[in-house]
Amino acid sequence: MSKVFVNIGLSLDGYMAPEGMTMEHWDNPEYKNWGAKWGAMMGWIFNQQYFRENLKLGPGGETGPVNDMLRSTTERIGANIMGKRMFDGGERGWPEEAPFHTPVYVLTSEKREPWVRPGGTTFYFVNDGAESALEQARENAGGRDIRIAGGADVIQQYLNLGVIDALEIALAPVLFGGGRRLFENLNETASRFRIDKVIEGPDATHLRYVRE
Ligand SMILES: NC(=O)c1ccc[n+]([C@@H]2O[C@H](COP(=O)([O-])OP(=O)(O)OC[C@H]3O[C@@H](n4cnc5c(N)ncnc54)[C@H](OP(=O)(O)O)[C@@H]3O)[C@@H](O)[C@H]2O)c1
Repeated sequence: MSKVFVNIGLSLDGYMAPEGMTMEHWDNPEYKNWGAKWGAMMGWIFNQQYFRENLKLGPGGETGPVNDMLRSTTERIGANIMGKRMFDGGERGWPEEAPFHTPVYVLTSEKREPWVRPGGTTFYFVNDGAESALEQARENAGGRDIRIAGGADVIQQYLNLGVIDALEIALAPVLFGGGRRLFENLNETASRFRIDKVIEGPDATHLRYVRE
């Protein structure tokens, strides 16, 4: 059966996105310095050869254990689930060939027809809740794994449902001091995890936790 996992970047003080990284300020990454903070958190990924190849950013990039991890993580995904705010940013920022190559279930209150992108990505807009999105993802993942791509709101819902099998966090040594916090709004029965793997990189520590 498909595993359900989270794979994200996080600031050392626990934020998934810096303050100011909202749709109103999307075009101004200097607002509250959000662009620099985002770059400091996610810089590690832009240096990886596999990521550069996948986003058609040009040749080069690091090859090594972090790149291998990125490749194997990406290749085991059969479906993605995300929130509408993550989607809104991506709709403006992703290239035409969106970098998922799977069905993507977008949790939203907005009604919208599926949006088909070249390269195998189709976004489906789900209006009937997190459990329904997961059910649809399981049906269409072809037995591969399901990534809860973000943002924080959506990850919190799945943590509260107790369905996350693995939490993969690239912890970057940068302090945001504010923004979209990952670990909040959790209920008391949120799952317990054990440490599965740690990979040290120059720009982030890659932590993998699996549910006990
Ligand atoms: N650090 C990382 O690796 C990483 C990864 C992903 C995203 N991010 C960042 O995270 C930020 C977004 O996170 P976020 O927590 O603010 O928002 P989010 O989780 O992306 O989206 C939340 C929105 O999704 C819709 N939604 C969520 N659950 C729903 C449900 N059960 N039913 C219906 N609609 C539902 C609602 O929007 P509507 O009601 O308007 O439809 C809600 O406001 C962005 O800045 C993004 O760049 C960071």
